[in-house]
Amino acid sequence: MKSFDPQHLSSDELLQSLLEYTTKIAEERELDKLLVLMNDLGKEILVCDRCTLWLVEQEEVWTKVAHGLEELRMPKSRGLVGECVTSGLSLIVNDPYNDPRFNQEVDQITGYQTDSILVIPLFKNDGTLLGVYQAINKSIKGEGFTKHDVQRLQLIATFSSKSLESALLYKEIEYTQMELVYMLGEAGESRSKETGNHVKRVGEYSYILAKALGLSADESELIRLAAPLHDLGKVGIPDAILNKPGRLTSDEFEIMKTHAELGYNILIKSKRRILKAAAIQAYEHQEKYNGTGYPRGLKGKEIHLHGRICAVADVFDALSNDRCYKKAWPMDKVLNLFEEERGKHFDPELVDLLFNNLDKFKKVMVELADKFDD
Ligand code: C2E
Ligand code: SIN
Ligand code: SIN
Ligand code: FE
Repeated sequence: MKSFDPQHLSSDELLQSLLEYTTKIAEERELDKLLVLMNDLGKEILVCDRCTLWLVEQEEVWTKVAHGLEELRMPKSRGLVGECVTSGLSLIVNDPYNDPRFNQEVDQITGYQTDSILVIPLFKNDGTLLGVYQAINKSIKGEGFTKHDVQRLQLIATFSSKSLESALLYKEIEYTQMELVYMLGEAGESRSKETGNHVKRVGEYSYILAKALGLSADESELIRLAAPLHDLGKVGIPDAILNKPGRLTSDEFEIMKTHAELGYNILIKSKRRILKAAAIQAYEHQEKYNGTGYPRGLKGKEIHLHGRICAVADVFDALSNDRCYKKAWPMDKVLNLFEEERGKHFDPELVDLLFNNLDKFKKVMVELADKFDD
């Protein structure tokens, strides 16, 4: 076998890398994964330390360097990347520390020394700027990047731009869908100044439980998106009952109880997967494990798993936050209730998962805390 020359790729090796990656890139619909692929491919083709495809989003550029890691973000006007965003031109700087446009902050944070840097702009079909492809540190000391590297990076960019554009569009649709779900879910809530955090939290708690239970990534995501709609039926409950500052009378509570079936009847008309899943959660989230819940008094595993999950998530959130009729409970009181109701109101297995994943629940609680801006 021919020994691998780390300094330069032969045409064969170049072609092989390109083919391997472009197939994957063409099939990848998820933006995050696509970015990771493009970063890896660029690094391999250019034989450099690091390659980053920064996407422009309003006033920032962002990327994903590895799946599972956080996004990286920086202002879109900063450094050589910023220079490329502004000018729309490629740029090679093989002595960045003597270039005032270079942003040394990143090196200072990472303890890394940038010797050479290359940036090229990436455009959409319609000519607008999509992002900046950046390569850092040509692996051979003293050599630096050349025009040849610019061409190679442009080649990859051209190959990948279609996939990138459709992944962006796909993400946009996905985000729109999520926002609509949160807005719709909030429609039944009385707190008009709320930002949709209550229903978001219920989605996140349900997701944590689904994952902990070992459900697939796909089903867990479905639950996460559907759970925020569990109380949609409250849109049909009169304000005087929904917003009543004190305890409900038994007549009022009977009316309140109809929200489960109301939500189900609205959602079940849809053929969409998320809304169908939401219909089941709306219908069964008020059932109790021991059969004393409503509307049908289902018992144990008769209650759909998604409904049992939603019940734990919903009550955890209802108790740990203010409601128009009650103040938030301290955490130890909330947890006592779950211990007390293990196997009564709630599926015992799910209560155990709640206790085993409390750190994750608390993290969501903090990150998605209600903010009232009056
Ligand atoms: P929600 O506020 O989202 O509460 C969901 C569930 O959390 C409740 O279902 C209940 O299981 C639990 N929960 C909430 N607060 C408490 C509490 O203080 N103590 C205990 N032990 N559990 C609590 P539930 O009871 O079927 O109520 C369904 C919905 O009816 C509630 O949704 C809320 O919108 C309304 N509701 C219930 N009780 C009252 C009330 O006394 N006054 C008013 N205004 N609304 C109420
Ligand atoms: C720059 O764009 O000026 C450098 C930023 C980086 O090192 O990633
Ligand atoms: C609820 O529907 O969550 C109860 C009313 C409120 O405090 O928002
Ligand atoms: Fe409910």
